[in-house]
Amino acid sequence: MADASPDPRSAFIAALPKAELHLHIEGSLEPEMMFELARRNGVALPYASVEEVRAAYQFSNLQEFLDLYYLGMGALIEERDFYDLTIAYLERVHADNVRHVEIFFDPQGHTTRGVAFDTVITGITRALDEGEARLGITSKLIMCFLRHLSEEDAFATLEEAQPWLHRITGVGLDSSEVGHPPEKFARVFAKCRELGLKLVAHAGEEGPPEYVWQALDTLGIDRIDHGNRALEDEKLVKRIAQDGYTLTVCPLSNLKLCVIDEIGESPVKAMLDAGIKATVNSDDPSYFGGYINDNYHAVARALDLSLQDIATLASNSFAGSFLDPAEIETRQAEIAQALEAQGAR
Ligand code: ADE
Ligand code: ZN
Repeated sequence: MADASPDPRSAFIAALPKAELHLHIEGSLEPEMMFELARRNGVALPYASVEEVRAAYQFSNLQEFLDLYYLGMGALIEERDFYDLTIAYLERVHADNVRHVEIFFDPQGHTTRGVAFDTVITGITRALDEGEARLGITSKLIMCFLRHLSEEDAFATLEEAQPWLHRITGVGLDSSEVGHPPEKFARVFAKCRELGLKLVAHAGEEGPPEYVWQALDTLGIDRIDHGNRALEDEKLVKRIAQDGYTLTVCPLSNLKLCVIDEIGESPVKAMLDAGIKATVNSDDPSYFGGYINDNYHAVARALDLSLQDIATLASNSFAGSFLDPAEIETRQAEIAQALEAQGAR
């Protein structure tokens, strides 16, 4: 999104080192690439043009988005498609001064279509390696289980992932939330914990606070994805703040999926004020109309965030990452320096 008037926060946001902790790589598939891959792979799309795809991106809830998201994935077939998708995302966020990414991928969105797990992960990791070598962006990979599918399917996916566990930092839980509570995956997550994987889960995007409690207490997650509806429960807010959980909030996603009615309703500032480690992320940037800096800009303006607030969000993005403490400290020191240079400490 273009900034119409000059805002001193824009240059600050652009220059800050940031980590992106909530990004579905399949949700970064831009319509242009969708068409190119579909052509290359002989896949028929139900759209006549890129403009028609973009015009279809009007959603009134999560499920309406997910239906198009899974449809768009159909263009991804070969290893190089997953490579092209991932390297394009890294190049795009390099321009936003993103230094670290923790990327979700949805293997079941591909294996259920007959695309091999190895094809998916080989393409993604080839791009991640290149991203670190050429662009200096470090990365972690988080494998998500689709919660509308069964526990048995999730276990089968974990089995397929076994040869790749050295490349997978953690597991997550995504897709249709309501009706698929975290407890459905209690045994899968227990197994993943045994394997030494980090655990995250989408919770409280559309689902009630009870789902956030379950994600914390039943799954034992390390980080909460979204978590908007946690704010409806005072006890839960206290628990999240006291135990220092990071929430990966996605403002433009929330707006596009009608989790909020306007960007000014984003819970980012309320979370910071409650002592919660909120972060700002893009979720599915191609579908929601903005990459990470667009999300920062949107909340900075709508919530009238100070430079200190913006620096706190960026600092939280490293603190809440799965990077080593020394790397986190390095990035946080850079952010503190950038803030100091503004005379805003
Ligand atoms: N998969 C991709 N984006 C998602 C979101 N915002 N919520 C749940 N599942 C998703
Ligand atoms: Zn998400």
